[in-house]
Amino acid sequence: MRKLIAGNWKMNGLLAELEDVASICEAVAAHPSVDTALCIPATLIRSAAGRFADMAIGGQDWHMAASGAHTGCISAEMLADAGAKLTIIGHSERRAAQGESDADIRGKALAAKRAGLAAILCVGETEAERDAGRAEAVVLGQLEGSMPDDAASEWISVAYEPVWAIGTGRIPSVEDVKAMHAAIRGALVARFGTDGSNIRILYGGSMNGDNAASLLAIPDVDGGLIGGASLKADKFLPIVAAAAAA
Ligand code: PGA
Repeated sequence: MRKLIAGNWKMNGLLAELEDVASICEAVAAHPSVDTALCIPATLIRSAAGRFADMAIGGQDWHMAASGAHTGCISAEMLADAGAKLTIIGHSERRAAQGESDADIRGKALAAKRAGLAAILCVGETEAERDAGRAEAVVLGQLEGSMPDDAASEWISVAYEPVWAIGTGRIPSVEDVKAMHAAIRGALVARFGTDGSNIRILYGGSMNGDNAASLLAIPDVDGGLIGGASLKADKFLPIVAAAAAA
Protein backbone atom coordinates (compact mmCIF):
# COMPACT_ATOMS: atom_id res chain seq x y z
CA MET A 1 0.00 0.00 0.00
CA ARG A 2 1.32 3.50 -0.84
CA LYS A 3 1.93 5.50 2.30
CA LEU A 4 0.21 8.85 2.83
CA ILE A 5 1.98 11.65 4.72
CA ALA A 6 -0.46 14.48 5.35
CA GLY A 7 0.28 17.77 7.09
CA ASN A 8 -2.23 19.53 9.33
CA TRP A 9 -1.40 23.23 9.56
CA LYS A 10 -4.25 23.89 12.02
CA MET A 11 -4.82 27.65 12.53
CA ASN A 12 -1.44 28.64 11.11
CA GLY A 13 -0.68 30.29 7.80
CA LEU A 14 -1.03 33.73 6.23
CA LEU A 15 -0.54 34.48 2.55
CA ALA A 16 3.18 34.98 3.22
CA GLU A 17 3.46 31.33 4.25
CA LEU A 18 2.56 30.18 0.74
CA GLU A 19 6.32 30.24 0.27
CA ASP A 20 6.56 27.45 2.85
CA VAL A 21 3.92 25.47 0.94
CA ALA A 22 6.06 25.98 -2.17
CA SER A 23 9.23 24.70 -0.45
CA ILE A 24 7.38 21.69 0.93
CA CYS A 25 5.88 20.88 -2.45
CA GLU A 26 9.27 21.14 -4.13
CA ALA A 27 10.90 18.92 -1.49
CA VAL A 28 8.33 16.13 -1.52
CA ALA A 29 8.53 15.87 -5.31
CA ALA A 30 11.77 13.93 -4.70
CA HIS A 31 9.68 11.06 -3.27
CA PRO A 32 7.03 10.17 -5.85
CA SER A 33 6.45 6.76 -4.19
CA VAL A 34 4.72 8.54 -1.26
CA ASP A 35 1.33 10.27 -1.41
CA THR A 36 1.57 13.68 0.24
CA ALA A 37 -0.96 16.31 1.25
CA LEU A 38 -1.14 19.54 3.21
CA CYS A 39 -4.37 20.51 4.98
CA ILE A 40 -4.12 24.27 5.29
CA PRO A 41 -6.42 27.13 6.37
CA ALA A 42 -9.38 27.57 4.01
CA THR A 43 -8.24 31.09 3.18
CA LEU A 44 -5.10 29.73 1.48
CA ILE A 45 -6.61 26.84 -0.45
CA ARG A 46 -7.42 28.68 -3.66
CA SER A 47 -3.93 30.18 -3.97
CA ALA A 48 -2.13 26.98 -3.00
CA ALA A 49 -4.20 24.53 -5.05
CA GLY A 50 -3.79 26.68 -8.15
CA ARG A 51 -0.06 27.00 -7.72
CA PHE A 52 1.15 23.63 -6.44
CA ALA A 53 -0.53 20.94 -8.48
CA ASP A 54 1.93 18.16 -7.47
CA MET A 55 0.84 17.82 -3.83
CA ALA A 56 -2.77 17.44 -2.71
CA ILE A 57 -4.09 20.49 -0.88
CA GLY A 58 -6.80 19.93 1.68
CA GLY A 59 -9.03 21.64 4.21
CA GLN A 60 -9.57 20.99 7.91
CA ASP A 61 -13.28 21.54 8.59
CA TRP A 62 -16.58 22.66 7.12
CA HIS A 63 -20.32 22.66 7.72
CA MET A 64 -22.04 19.46 6.60
CA ALA A 65 -24.83 21.20 4.66
CA ALA A 66 -24.09 21.98 1.02
CA SER A 67 -25.36 25.57 1.31
CA GLY A 68 -27.89 27.65 3.26
CA ALA A 69 -28.41 29.96 6.21
CA HIS A 70 -25.24 29.19 8.17
CA THR A 71 -23.51 32.52 8.69
CA GLY A 72 -19.75 32.23 8.79
CA CYS A 73 -19.61 28.60 7.65
CA ILE A 74 -18.23 27.04 4.51
CA SER A 75 -19.36 23.78 2.89
CA ALA A 76 -17.42 20.79 1.58
CA GLU A 77 -18.52 21.90 -1.89
CA MET A 78 -16.86 25.29 -1.28
CA LEU A 79 -13.61 23.61 -0.22
CA ALA A 80 -13.70 21.48 -3.37
CA ASP A 81 -14.56 24.53 -5.45
CA ALA A 82 -11.48 26.28 -4.05
CA GLY A 83 -9.32 23.35 -5.18
CA ALA A 84 -9.17 21.12 -2.09
CA LYS A 85 -8.83 17.40 -2.79
CA LEU A 86 -9.23 16.14 0.75
CA THR A 87 -10.05 17.13 4.28
CA ILE A 88 -9.51 16.13 7.88
CA ILE A 89 -12.58 15.12 9.89
CA GLY A 90 -13.10 14.51 13.59
CA HIS A 91 -9.78 15.86 14.81
CA SER A 92 -9.65 15.67 18.62
CA GLU A 93 -9.25 19.45 18.81
CA ARG A 94 -12.66 19.78 17.16
CA ARG A 95 -14.21 16.95 19.15
CA ALA A 96 -13.04 18.68 22.36
CA ALA A 97 -13.37 22.40 21.59
CA GLN A 98 -16.36 22.35 19.22
CA GLY A 99 -18.13 19.39 20.84
CA GLU A 100 -18.29 17.40 17.61
CA SER A 101 -19.95 14.03 18.19
CA ASP A 102 -19.43 10.77 16.32
CA ALA A 103 -22.75 11.42 14.56
CA ASP A 104 -21.56 14.89 13.44
CA ILE A 105 -18.35 13.38 12.14
CA ARG A 106 -20.20 10.65 10.27
CA GLY A 107 -22.36 13.36 8.68
CA LYS A 108 -19.27 15.30 7.69
CA ALA A 109 -17.71 12.18 6.16
CA LEU A 110 -20.79 11.77 3.99
CA ALA A 111 -20.66 15.45 3.05
CA ALA A 112 -17.02 15.05 2.02
CA LYS A 113 -17.97 12.14 -0.23
CA ARG A 114 -20.87 14.14 -1.68
CA ALA A 115 -18.45 16.94 -2.59
CA GLY A 116 -15.84 14.56 -4.04
CA LEU A 117 -13.29 15.13 -1.27
CA ALA A 118 -11.15 12.39 0.24
CA ALA A 119 -11.30 12.30 4.03
CA ILE A 120 -8.91 11.54 6.89
CA LEU A 121 -11.08 10.56 9.83
CA CYS A 122 -9.39 10.94 13.23
CA VAL A 123 -9.89 8.81 16.32
CA GLY A 124 -7.92 8.69 19.57
CA GLU A 125 -8.09 8.27 23.32
CA THR A 126 -7.24 10.77 26.06
CA GLU A 127 -4.54 10.03 28.59
CA ALA A 128 -7.13 9.33 31.31
CA GLU A 129 -8.85 6.82 29.04
CA ARG A 130 -5.54 5.05 28.35
CA ASP A 131 -4.63 5.03 32.03
CA ALA A 132 -8.01 3.47 32.78
CA GLY A 133 -7.29 0.67 30.27
CA ARG A 134 -10.02 1.90 27.94
CA ALA A 135 -7.96 3.11 24.98
CA GLU A 136 -8.98 0.38 22.55
CA ALA A 137 -12.65 0.47 23.54
CA VAL A 138 -12.75 4.27 23.10
CA VAL A 139 -11.01 4.22 19.72
CA LEU A 140 -13.10 1.36 18.33
CA GLY A 141 -16.25 3.06 19.64
CA GLN A 142 -15.34 6.30 17.83
CA LEU A 143 -14.59 4.33 14.69
CA GLU A 144 -17.90 2.48 14.82
CA GLY A 145 -19.84 5.69 15.45
CA SER A 146 -18.13 7.99 12.99
CA MET A 147 -17.31 5.83 9.93
CA PRO A 148 -20.25 5.87 7.53
CA ASP A 149 -21.60 2.54 6.25
CA ASP A 150 -20.48 3.26 2.71
CA ALA A 151 -16.90 4.13 3.65
CA ALA A 152 -14.46 2.85 1.03
CA SER A 153 -10.69 2.84 0.70
CA GLU A 154 -10.80 5.01 -2.40
CA TRP A 155 -11.94 8.06 -0.42
CA ILE A 156 -11.45 7.53 3.31
CA SER A 157 -8.45 6.96 5.57
CA VAL A 158 -8.37 6.64 9.36
CA ALA A 159 -5.86 8.50 11.55
CA TYR A 160 -5.14 7.08 15.01
CA GLU A 161 -4.12 10.09 17.08
CA PRO A 162 -3.76 9.57 20.84
CA VAL A 163 -4.90 12.94 22.24
CA TRP A 164 -2.08 12.99 24.79
CA ALA A 165 0.54 12.64 22.03
CA ILE A 166 -0.65 15.64 20.00
CA GLY A 167 1.79 18.54 20.22
CA THR A 168 3.43 17.14 23.36
CA GLY A 169 6.55 15.43 22.00
CA ARG A 170 5.34 12.18 23.59
CA ILE A 171 4.45 9.11 21.55
CA PRO A 172 3.09 5.67 22.47
CA SER A 173 5.41 2.66 22.51
CA VAL A 174 5.85 0.68 19.31
CA GLU A 175 3.91 -2.15 20.97
CA ASP A 176 0.96 0.13 21.79
CA VAL A 177 0.83 1.57 18.26
CA LYS A 178 1.05 -1.93 16.81
CA ALA A 179 -1.77 -3.20 19.01
CA MET A 180 -4.05 -0.24 18.27
CA HIS A 181 -3.50 -0.32 14.51
CA ALA A 182 -4.13 -4.09 14.50
CA ALA A 183 -7.36 -3.53 16.43
CA ILE A 184 -8.47 -0.82 13.99
CA ARG A 185 -7.59 -3.03 11.03
CA GLY A 186 -9.59 -5.88 12.53
CA ALA A 187 -12.63 -3.63 12.98
CA LEU A 188 -12.35 -2.27 9.42
CA VAL A 189 -12.15 -5.76 7.90
CA ALA A 190 -15.02 -7.01 10.06
CA ARG A 191 -17.20 -4.15 8.89
CA PHE A 192 -16.11 -3.53 5.30
CA GLY A 193 -14.80 -6.94 4.23
CA THR A 194 -11.84 -7.09 1.84
CA ASP A 195 -11.89 -3.34 1.27
CA GLY A 196 -11.30 -2.87 5.01
CA SER A 197 -7.76 -4.14 4.48
CA ASN A 198 -7.16 -1.41 1.88
CA ILE A 199 -8.27 1.54 4.06
CA ARG A 200 -5.15 3.43 5.10
CA ILE A 201 -4.56 3.80 8.84
CA LEU A 202 -2.29 6.77 9.62
CA TYR A 203 -0.60 7.44 12.93
CA GLY A 204 -0.64 11.03 14.24
CA GLY A 205 0.74 12.74 17.36
CA SER A 206 4.27 14.18 17.65
CA MET A 207 5.56 12.33 14.58
CA ASN A 208 8.85 13.88 13.49
CA GLY A 209 12.03 13.17 11.55
CA ASP A 210 13.54 11.28 14.51
CA ASN A 211 10.70 8.87 15.21
CA ALA A 212 9.05 8.53 11.77
CA ALA A 213 11.12 5.57 10.57
CA SER A 214 10.28 3.42 13.59
CA LEU A 215 6.58 4.41 13.56
CA LEU A 216 6.18 3.85 9.81
CA ALA A 217 7.80 0.40 10.06
CA ILE A 218 4.99 -0.87 12.32
CA PRO A 219 2.53 -3.19 10.54
CA ASP A 220 -0.67 -1.40 9.51
CA VAL A 221 0.86 2.07 9.93
CA ASP A 222 0.12 3.29 6.41
CA GLY A 223 1.27 6.87 6.84
CA GLY A 224 1.19 9.84 9.17
CA LEU A 225 -0.85 12.91 10.04
CA ILE A 226 1.65 15.57 11.00
CA GLY A 227 0.95 18.80 12.87
CA GLY A 228 3.90 20.89 14.06
CA ALA A 229 6.47 19.18 11.83
CA SER A 230 4.44 19.95 8.69
CA LEU A 231 4.92 23.71 8.82
CA LYS A 232 8.42 23.79 7.32
CA ALA A 233 10.03 21.73 4.56
CA ASP A 234 13.13 20.86 6.62
CA LYS A 235 10.93 19.21 9.28
CA PHE A 236 8.39 17.60 6.91
CA LEU A 237 10.80 16.19 4.34
CA PRO A 238 12.57 13.69 6.67
CA ILE A 239 9.16 12.17 7.48
CA VAL A 240 8.33 11.80 3.78
CA ALA A 241 11.80 10.30 3.19
CA ALA A 242 11.19 7.82 6.01
CA ALA A 243 7.89 6.83 4.40
CA ALA A 244 9.64 6.34 1.06
CA ALA A 245 12.20 4.06 2.73
CA ALA A 246 9.68 2.09 4.83
P1 PGA B 1 1.41 17.12 16.10
O1 PGA B 1 -0.14 17.20 15.66
O2 PGA B 1 2.14 16.41 15.00
O3 PGA B 1 1.83 18.56 16.25
O4 PGA B 1 1.47 16.37 17.38
C1 PGA B 1 -0.76 16.13 15.02
C2 PGA B 1 -2.21 16.46 14.75
O5 PGA B 1 -2.83 17.15 15.58
O6 PGA B 1 -2.77 16.03 13.74
